[in-house]
Amino acid sequence: MSQLVVATSNPGKLREMQVYFTDSRWELTLKPEELEIKETGTTFLANACLKASQVAQAVRKWAIADDSGLEVQALNGAPGLNSARYAKTDSDRINRLLQELGDEPNRNAQFVCAVAIAEPDGSIALQTVGTCQGEILYAPRGTGGFGYDPIFYVPEQGMTFAEMPPEVKQQVSHRGQAFAALLPQLKNL
Ligand code: IMP
Repeated sequence: MSQLVVATSNPGKLREMQVYFTDSRWELTLKPEELEIKETGTTFLANACLKASQVAQAVRKWAIADDSGLEVQALNGAPGLNSARYAKTDSDRINRLLQELGDEPNRNAQFVCAVAIAEPDGSIALQTVGTCQGEILYAPRGTGGFGYDPIFYVPEQGMTFAEMPPEVKQQVSHRGQAFAALLPQLKNL
């Protein structure tokens, strides 16, 4: 097995990523807790690359990072890069978003997930971006998932992310799309 250091100290995030690596030769591990990483990029992809590079260079091993968020068309792409910091809790973030959208009829939105893998010298070996198109509901629906899941409705599935069984969300989500593109390329490294 080859070691792949995940640019996070959050075990939940590691578990979430591990799902996509079950059949691979890579063993995922957490980055050292004390290692601070900067997220100063202006796009999801720039941030994923920055995080993967910094961790790889610091630990001199292969590293992987992701960066994700929700872009709402009628809000000019907000909350976007600010998705995690839009308000204090998941329900506050949902309430703020619903309030800002109000009765706006254009409910189009997309989740974006960028993933980057860096070599031990920090150079980027692979990068990919996955998206999932949907609509923002007027009120939350469903109890699964996290974050903005209860208000993000995917017309093809006829469900919000929070109503989907986990294996369905894993496949159709922005993260699922990003990893579906990444994993075949990983075999060539
Ligand atoms: P980060 O990628 O860990 O920086 O998180 C980005 C933020 O985007 C999260 O804190 C959530 O608010 C939101 N987000 C990203 N992916 C999802 C998802 O699959 N469902 C719901 N919210 C998400």
